[in-house]
Amino acid sequence: MGTTAETIAALKKTLGDSLCVVGHHYQQESVITHCDITGDSLELARKVADITAPHIVFCGVYFMAESAALLARPGQQIYLPETAANCVMSQMTPATRVNEVLERLNAAGRNVVPLAYVNTSLAVKAVVGRFGGAVCTSANARTMLRWALEQGDSVLFLPDKNLGRNTARELGLDASQWRILDIRRKSDAADAPEDIRERLLLWPGCCAIHAKFTPEQIRAMREAHPDCLVAVHPECSPEVVQAADAAGSTAFLIKYAAQAPQDSTVVIGTETNLVERLRARHAGHHTVARLHRAYCSHMAKVTEDKLLTTLQHIRAGIAQPVSIPSAHRAPARASLERMLEACRKAGV
Ligand code: 13P
Ligand code: SF4
Repeated sequence: MGTTAETIAALKKTLGDSLCVVGHHYQQESVITHCDITGDSLELARKVADITAPHIVFCGVYFMAESAALLARPGQQIYLPETAANCVMSQMTPATRVNEVLERLNAAGRNVVPLAYVNTSLAVKAVVGRFGGAVCTSANARTMLRWALEQGDSVLFLPDKNLGRNTARELGLDASQWRILDIRRKSDAADAPEDIRERLLLWPGCCAIHAKFTPEQIRAMREAHPDCLVAVHPECSPEVVQAADAAGSTAFLIKYAAQAPQDSTVVIGTETNLVERLRARHAGHHTVARLHRAYCSHMAKVTEDKLLTTLQHIRAGIAQPVSIPSAHRAPARASLERMLEACRKAGV
C-alpha cells in the first residue's frame, strides 16, 4: 500500500481527463500539492467556467463550491471533500434577514442595490440577484462598488464591513458617506430607514481570521525590521490596511511577495497556510514573514484523507455533488454573471 499522496496520484491518473482538482490558496500544503488549478476567488470562478472535465473537486469552503456549481456546464458535477467547511463570514448573512433588510430600506423610497461579497451563501446571492445586485470578490471590489454606486441611490454591501470600507476609501468616499447598519428586526433596529441617506450601507460582518491582525502588530514588525514592506488582505480592518504598504486579494499578495528585492523582508497579513507557502517559496532570496498566526479552521477541514475519499467515491460512482436548489439558480447566477460582465467591460 502506498502513502495517501501516492494513492491520490494513482487515482488522478486513472480518472484522467474526466477529473479536475481545484484549490484555493488557503488550503494546506498536503492538499494544494494535488490541485491542477489554484487561485483566488475571482480566478477560480473564471477558471472553473473553462474546465471541461465532468468531475470537479473543489478544495475550499462551501460558498466557493456553490459558485463553481452555479457556473458549471450541464452534466458537470462539483464535489467538496468536506461539506462542513463553511466560511464563518458567509454565515453572518442569513438570506431571510438580507431580504427583510432590503425590503425595509427600499420601502422607504430609496433604490438600494445590494453588492454581495462572494463569501455568501447561494441563497443570499439569489436575493441579491432578485434585487438587481451583483457579487464581488476582493480582487474586483473596486470595479464592482463603482458599478453598484451607478445603479441606485445607495449600495448595501454585505457581509464584510471591512472590505466595504477599505474599497470605499479607495474610491474616495469618507466615513460621512457610509453607515454600518443595525440589522436587528424592525422593532429593535435603531436605524429608521427614512433617515438613512448614506451612499454606502454596510452589513456588520467581518472575517474572524482577519480580525486578528492589528496596527500594533504592524508597528512591532516595522520596529524589528525597519525596511520591511507590509501587505495585507482587505478583509483586515481599515486601521490595519492604512498602516500597511499595500492591500489586495490572495493572488495580489502572492505577486507582491514575489516582487520583493533580494534580502528584503515582506510581512504578509493573511491566512497562515498561504504565508508559510510563500516563505518556503522565496527562502534564500528574501524573507516572507507572517504578521500574526491566523489559520482558517474551515479551510483546514479539507484534508488529504478527505480528498482521497472523494476521489474513491467518484471512481465508484457514489460521490455526492454540491446541489443547487432550482429556485435559487437563475437569480444567483444573474448576480454572478453581472460581476463577470461588469469586469469584462471594465477590462479587469
Ligand atoms: P480571495 O478572493 O482574496 O482569495 O479571498 C478569499 C477569502 O476567503 C479571504 O479570506
Ligand atoms: Fe471565510 Fe475568513 Fe476563512 Fe476567508 S479566511 S474563508 S473569509 S473565515
